[in-house]
Amino acid sequence: MGFAEAYIRLSEVSDRRGGAEHRARMLAGLSGRVIEVGAGNGRNFAHYPVSVAEVLAVEPDPLLRRHAEHAARQARVPVHVVGGEADHLPGADGEFDAAVYSLVLCSVPDPATALAEARRVLRPGGELRFYEHIRSGNPVFGALEDLVTPLWTRVAGGCHPNRDTGNALRRAGFTVDADRFGFRPQALHPPVAHIIGTARST
Ligand SMILES: C[S@@+](CC[C@H](N)C(=O)[O-])C[C@H]1O[C@@H](n2cnc3c(N)ncnc32)[C@H](O)[C@@H]1O
Repeated sequence: MGFAEAYIRLSEVSDRRGGAEHRARMLAGLSGRVIEVGAGNGRNFAHYPVSVAEVLAVEPDPLLRRHAEHAARQARVPVHVVGGEADHLPGADGEFDAAVYSLVLCSVPDPATALAEARRVLRPGGELRFYEHIRSGNPVFGALEDLVTPLWTRVAGGCHPNRDTGNALRRAGFTVDADRFGFRPQALHPPVAHIIGTARST
């Protein structure tokens, strides 16, 4: 089974264990035109508030994109799913009111490049909503995450368990408002450090 196929199953379990509430919280209060980057199988789509005018959902993987297209048809707001990658977003400068990244900044090849591209397509004052797992603040768990990262990256679609995404957002020039929490995405998984919040492009 490839990563995309496995993720379809794992994301359903994780959403039943609380992930769906995290997604709804990440998207609450959004409005206007939104770009969602690395939309996967579209697990966020059902949670967009009706104040959102349109979502452009960018997903590079063909299998996940097919599932996202199905999820888009069930959403309460118009969602258009397209191929593409975080480093070259299909949008003009300042075109979007908001950008959404969930569980994806762990997987892009270079967060700094992806976030510079997010700033490019966001209007001045636009917001980036995020829900991401990050490196543990516990020195032992953090070191273990560093240790498994080279292998994990190869089997899990490029995912890095040890990224410091909050600081990557700050370094990219965003003003960040984040909550940090532990979450067990699967029954036998130890708690994984996550952040959720809003980053403003100034
Ligand atoms: C763990 S999944 C998360 C999917 C979805 N965002 C969610 O919240 O369920 C990681 C996603 O990042 C996507 N991805 C990986 N590299 C990417 C890149 N360079 N640009 C855009 N998306 C990417 C994968 O195809 C996959 O859909």
